Amino acid sequence: MIPGMANSELSKSVNPLREGLTSRSLPEPCSVVIFGATGDLTHRKLVPALYNLAADGALPPAISVVGFARREKTDEEFRGELKEAALKHSRQTINEELWASFASSIVYHRSAFDNAEGYETLAKRLEELDAARGTRGNRIFYLAVAPDQFGVIMENLRASGLNRPAEGGWARVIVEKPFGTDLETARELNTLVEGVFHERDTYRIDHYLGKETAQNIMVLRFANSIFEAMWNSRYIDHVQITASEPLGVEGRAGYYDKSGALRDMVQNHLLQLLCLTAMEPPTGLGADAIRDEKVKVLRSLRPLTGEDVFKHVVRGQYGAGAINGKRVAAYRDEANVNPESETETYVALEVNVDNWRWAGVPFFVRVGKRLPKGGTEIAVQFKSVPPVLFKATGEAIDDNVLVIRIQPDEGVSLRMSAKMPGSSLRIEPVKMDFHYGTSFGKATPEAYERLLLDAMSGDPTLFARRDEVEEAWKFVDAIREAWSTQTEDISFYSAGTWGPTEADDLIKRHGATWRRL
Ligand code: BG6
Repeated sequence: MIPGMANSELSKSVNPLREGLTSRSLPEPCSVVIFGATGDLTHRKLVPALYNLAADGALPPAISVVGFARREKTDEEFRGELKEAALKHSRQTINEELWASFASSIVYHRSAFDNAEGYETLAKRLEELDAARGTRGNRIFYLAVAPDQFGVIMENLRASGLNRPAEGGWARVIVEKPFGTDLETARELNTLVEGVFHERDTYRIDHYLGKETAQNIMVLRFANSIFEAMWNSRYIDHVQITASEPLGVEGRAGYYDKSGALRDMVQNHLLQLLCLTAMEPPTGLGADAIRDEKVKVLRSLRPLTGEDVFKHVVRGQYGAGAINGKRVAAYRDEANVNPESETETYVALEVNVDNWRWAGVPFFVRVGKRLPKGGTEIAVQFKSVPPVLFKATGEAIDDNVLVIRIQPDEGVSLRMSAKMPGSSLRIEPVKMDFHYGTSFGKATPEAYERLLLDAMSGDPTLFARRDEVEEAWKFVDAIREAWSTQTEDISFYSAGTWGPTEADDLIKRHGATWRRL
């Protein structure tokens, strides 16, 4: 130990040998208590993420994972189930020896969410784990449960004192989306959480922020002078943000049919991508400096209300069709979907950011399920060159486009015009392309890996702050309010097509077309 340095300071100090972490705090020993431990999120995302962190040697030196759920099962049974899930969903293949060592940190705690005694016994168990494993009284409570369970869990964490860290330790809460269903419920939820944990200890997940490529947006913009200088209405014609999925509702109809694409994807993930694209340079890389700038973008969004909603927003629902040559059912015929459902599975919007930088530059945002191809990207479309020099050649010159591929094939490409070799002057579009895989030679980690590590390090930068969530709801609620007055504008599209033709008309009014992914 470094003389004169307390344990907690030591754990926060930077280890110069850990390349790439020089600007970040290190994850601290802790217990991660997962509420909803037998659920889908735990199986598909959380445990595979923890295992991959273990495999990469990135976890803190001491950790325990406590699954909190109602069903009766032993630690061994629980570990067995998690292993099966990890075998299916892990980014890296499971190494038996590594799994065995990781699994020894997992225990199961059986209790109903509303059983006060279950929390008392959890407190004791965590103390025992602290003593046995060296987790130092630090706790993360991960709420991987439906929002209607948040209240009872919060209340019990408070009543049992688990929200108050022991001397020298900390207690943080990670809350999964959906964070409310509108502004009012989000505010209620925020007030509820605020009564139990400080804002600085509250980590609201938006897993898109954990994606490596979403983090790269800021680096691309602010670490390259060529882009930032042109990142404004003088040079940019419009921006397209697309999240396209071939998947349908995949057994989540109970949730999705009440939510719809606007609340499921736009309120959180897509508005976050828009903020990262549109924000001003922050005053520093601190969590609040970055989040302050994102909130400013949300506050600058031109509200879409009343009649404007029907002019600038298109909603659609998929009918039967084919994906990759396989017949798929209409949304209304999916299990647990109301056969008369008016829930949108597709939405396209024209969004304006009313500030100096973006005046007159629309952001076209679209998201849909059962589209032909999966992919998320941000395409920054630059203005056309003046039709002067090459006019006589009769060649159409494609505009420059900078595409940030969030997934898959993560990377960035820039389309530009070049002269085709030969004696005549032929101008063709060519691409400069950066692929993460080939440039850095390693796979990008899963979003949940990064987010879990950040919560263990006490870094909330990649989590949504209270005001961000509420501002995003304000924007989305106004659209939903207009929608609630009628349903005639819902368009149907066949599964396996690129959404309703009305969405093409929306962007055509600006003289543009949607990019094909
Ligand atoms: C979730 C939505 O938040 O994000 C899902 O609830 C959607 O409907 C998913 O499929 C998309 O995430 P990713 O990381 O696969 O793009």
